[in-house]
Amino acid sequence: MKIIEMQNTYINKIKQINKNGKYAVLTMGCQLNENDSEKIAGMLEASGYTKTDDLSQANVIVFNTCCVRENAEDRLFGKLGEVKKYKENNGAIIAIGGCMMQEKHIVNKLKQSYPFVDIVFGPHTMQDFPKDLYNSLVENKKIEDILDIDGNIIEGMPIVRNDSIKASVAIMNGCNNFCTYCIVPYVRGRERSRAPQDIYDECLDLAKKGYKEITLLGQNVNSYLVSEMKQLDENSFEDKKQKDNETSNVELNQEIINLKVKKENSEEVEVNSFAKLLRLINTIDGIERIRFISPHPKDFTDDVIEAIRDCDKVCNLIHLPLQSGSTNVLKAMNRKYTKEQYLNLVEKIKSKIPNVQFSTDIIVGFPGETEEDFEDTLDVVKKVRYEQIFMFIYSRRVGTVADKMENQIDEKIKHERFNRLKSLAEKIIEEGNKKYVGTVQKVLVEGKSKTNDKIYTGRTETNKVVNFEGNNDLIGKVIPLKIISEHMWYLKGKLF
Ligand code: SAH
Ligand code: SF4
Ligand code: F3S
Repeated sequence: MKIIEMQNTYINKIKQINKNGKYAVLTMGCQLNENDSEKIAGMLEASGYTKTDDLSQANVIVFNTCCVRENAEDRLFGKLGEVKKYKENNGAIIAIGGCMMQEKHIVNKLKQSYPFVDIVFGPHTMQDFPKDLYNSLVENKKIEDILDIDGNIIEGMPIVRNDSIKASVAIMNGCNNFCTYCIVPYVRGRERSRAPQDIYDECLDLAKKGYKEITLLGQNVNSYLVSEMKQLDENSFEDKKQKDNETSNVELNQEIINLKVKKENSEEVEVNSFAKLLRLINTIDGIERIRFISPHPKDFTDDVIEAIRDCDKVCNLIHLPLQSGSTNVLKAMNRKYTKEQYLNLVEKIKSKIPNVQFSTDIIVGFPGETEEDFEDTLDVVKKVRYEQIFMFIYSRRVGTVADKMENQIDEKIKHERFNRLKSLAEKIIEEGNKKYVGTVQKVLVEGKSKTNDKIYTGRTETNKVVNFEGNNDLIGKVIPLKIISEHMWYLKGKLF
């Protein structure tokens, strides 16, 4: 039976026994994790559950976990202590999914210390959640549904989105890079891309539903279709060998990805790279903004730069994860670029794309990081003058190469460096905000301010928050606003 058919069978079975049940999904990870949560919510709503923000009222509580840093674990275990009483009081089903469930030591800890948890499932088995839930409901037994092999990408899952203006669309899953600090390749498996037609159809559907901004998601978006293209190459080589009547012991791939996309206007195009995908999505009427996270600097090819330059909807803010500014640390991190190569790439992008800005991720306190190495990081921050910096203290992850390195950095030094980086980042961001004052910015209006009824809020193409006095009619529109002042975390704008 097809996966989606099986999913529907269980969704229908749950519907028959579900009596106005309520659910809550707690998302603990990145945007990909958030996108998975929207699919978990989709499966639950299809099964007749309605959403509640009040955990004490929920009949099903799902944690969608992350394990990229240690604090993600602390958060899960803290929250589990809190939901135990809901299990005791009203028999809520407690389910835990997400990346952390791919870690055996965590699942063992859950079994030993948190026996009230009903279901554990991983990112590779998410599509079977209705089956797990049904079995848990009718048989009242504990369910562990985790696969060690990479799951296929499942198309056609129900989805309930958190927002009505901005949406994220996963274009691939997994990662092949094995940066030495990072757990993601171990828990998400190898890179596999969705077929371009499926991505196009999803974006087209979003446009028709009135969405204005799409963020394309992947751990390394500029490897989109790279593994698949390699497989195709190998297969055509095999074809040729077979034609030549040579024997081969390499099995042909069962499912060959289709690179052809049939567009709404019946035009057919071929998409075989991330750059071409950007160009394709750029042609969808109604979508006004396209963002993507994350590209890897080592794979930032010229065709992608040119696509960003040519596509009016692709925002001119590029998230370009630095991780460290020191060539030595970058080597130990297995990032495959040097400080100079990173800076050269920034210069190349700047020279080709007018007004481009950057945001980044930085880790401080990687094993062996010296004061000099850290100063290299500060130096890159000063040179690139990022619009936004996501800063992390290095966190040891079981099973990664860096966890076994002997030159771990003292916690006190890590924190001290983090604070120095934070002060510099804040100074640079605040100075950078000054360039907006007096300019006119195109702002996608997202809604009302949470604290002031008259104030509306939106974002510039460079993702800066702009607050202004407006009205409800402007929500969901891209409008020009005159920037009148700057503040640390937002700009003030004015209609004109
Ligand atoms: N694939 C993306 C992001 C992966 S996770 C990329 O390569 O950019 C998001 C961020 O978490 C990373 O960019 C990195 O800065 C941070 N991170 C990953 N592992 C970490 C660790 N062990 N300790 C601290 N930060 C980490
Ligand atoms: Fe982790 Fe590196 Fe892959 Fe990003 S590229 S997910 S940091 S291994
Ligand atoms: Fe995302 Fe965390 Fe998994 S960053 S991919 S949810 S480990």
